[in-house]
Parts: sequence; structure tokens; C-alpha cells
Amino acid sequence: MDLQIDGNAALVTASSSGLGKASATALASEGANIVINSRNEDRLAETKAEIEAVATGDVVAQPGDLTDKDDIQRLIETTVDEFGTLDHLVTSAGGPPSGSFLQTDDEDWYHAYDLLVMSVVRLAREAEPYLSEGKEMGTIVNIASRSVKEALDSLVLSNSVRMGVIGLEKTLSQEFAPDVRANAVLPGPHETSRIQTLVEQAVDRGDYDSYEEGINDWAGNPLERIGDPMELGNTVAYLSSPASGFINGQSIVIDGGSTGANL
Ligand SMILES: NC(=O)c1ccc[n+]([C@@H]2O[C@H](COP(=O)([O-])OP(=O)(O)OC[C@H]3O[C@@H](n4cnc5c(N)ncnc54)[C@H](OP(=O)(O)O)[C@@H]3O)[C@@H](O)[C@H]2O)c1
Repeated sequence: MDLQIDGNAALVTASSSGLGKASATALASEGANIVINSRNEDRLAETKAEIEAVATGDVVAQPGDLTDKDDIQRLIETTVDEFGTLDHLVTSAGGPPSGSFLQTDDEDWYHAYDLLVMSVVRLAREAEPYLSEGKEMGTIVNIASRSVKEALDSLVLSNSVRMGVIGLEKTLSQEFAPDVRANAVLPGPHETSRIQTLVEQAVDRGDYDSYEEGINDWAGNPLERIGDPMELGNTVAYLSSPASGFINGQSIVIDGGSTGANL
């Protein structure tokens, strides 16, 4: 299917690795011009080169920390300076640390809120004029977690703070319409460096005897495998495209069917 986003301008945050990188790769493969971002400049440059190998449009790397509002402003400015507009905003971020409630202090809570919620607030605010006025219908896709459907063990910050992003996404789908659609994807386990770290931490806590035992346990779902990040990236590209033009305000779980909730 031609997603008809050839030549459009997209910004994908936190995209030197994992699900952000997969989303940027999927958009770039469909011909979108993209800006990618992360804090580590070397890793960002490597990712730029990897995506350029499959891209038909331009790929621009803009370093920046999503907890810094000036860096966020620069991300939007760079996209508009480079491509003249911004049609698609994809918000990913690093994950909050794992841990139980009693292991989590005030600083952890404020940092998780800054990283996961305030980054999306600031990105959406700065992006709105361009998303609304472009020749294409603007789109926002937030990469969150299935933890908003079903609380996960030892992930109190993800379970709690991400709920704010889903309320925000639903509100934007109403307030920014009809010019802009806003949706979210809720990943279950996909084999990225984030998941590798979480499994290693669980091994260190003594939850599993080995990495293999942990990753097999995390992959527990009816499809009996962990997700490939590109499966999620392709869904993000679809949600950014006119092919999904009537999908708005939705949060789509991508977890191989492991979440028990009926809706
Ligand atoms: N992978 C999964 O199975 C899964 C499941 C559910 C939810 N999620 C969520 O999806 C999101 C992405 O996860 P992932 O697995 O793709 O992680 P990942 O592979 O570790 O990638 C995280 C990316 O975010 C960047 N990043 C981290 N903190 C940043 C900051 N403050 N400012 C800018 N960039 C930052 C990292 O680069 P730098 O460190 O260089 O900045 C990297 O590019 C996370 O919120 C995670 O919790 C993932």
C-alpha cells in the first residue's frame, strides 16, 4: 500500500534507537523527510546513516534532551527550517526506570513526568501551528506503553505517569481537529535496548536466573514471540498517513494479544 506521505515532513523524537528509530525508518522508507533526535550525538549520527540507506527523502539529525524546553523548541524550528513545514509528529522518549512504589522517590516521579508528559505537552504546543496549516492533514502519534491498559510489575512510573499522556492525546484529538489527528500506540515487549535493560535489571533483582529466561517470560503472549520494532514502526507510519484518515483519538495496543482487557 502506498501511504501517500512522500515528501511530507516528519519529526520523530527519541529516535536513535528502538521504537523511535523503527518509526523514523518506516516513515523514511515511505518517502517522508524526517528529523531524528536523541541526546547521544554519536549514536544519532550512526542511526542517521542507517536510515539514509533506506530513505528516499532527507534525514536530518538534531540532538537534544526532551526534558529541556529549549531543545524541544529547537527540534520544531529545525524541522520547519529544513523542510518548510511539519506534517507528522511522532513522540517517543526514553523509558522511566523500573522499580516498585517504595523504591521510587520524588525526584524519580518529577523526572518521569518531565520526560513522558511535559515533552509531549511542549512538542504539541510548538508543533500545532505547522500541523494545522500544512497542505496535508497533520498527525500526532504518541508511543506510550500497554501499561496504560494493564499495570505492569515493577513499573510504577510507567503505570502511573503515562496515563496523563493518554488523556492529553484524547484531548488533542478533539481540540486540534479537524486539521490534526492524534493517536497513540501502546507497545508490549519489543526487542529494543530498553527491554534488554529491563530484563537485565530483573535478572539483577533475582526475578530470573538468566537473560534468556527473562526475555522468554516477557514474550509471553498468544503469538509466543517478542515484537520486532519495525512492526510497531510500520503501524506508526500507517497512523501518520491518509490511509488511516478516520482514526482519531485512539490508543492501539501492539502486544501480540497479551493484554487481558476486552477493550
Ligand atoms: N521496547 C518495548 O518493548 C517497549 C514496551 C513498552 C513501552 N516502551 C516505551 O517506548 C519508549 C521507547 O522505548 P525503546 O524500547 O525504543 O527504548 P530504547 O531502545 O532504549 O530507545 C530510547 C531512545 O530514546 C532516547 N532518549 C532517552 N532519553 C532521552 C531524552 N531525555 N531526550 C531525548 N532522547 C532520549 C535514546 O537516546 P539517548 O539515550 O542518546 O538520548 C534512544 O534513542 C519508552 O518510553 C519505553 O518505555 C517500550
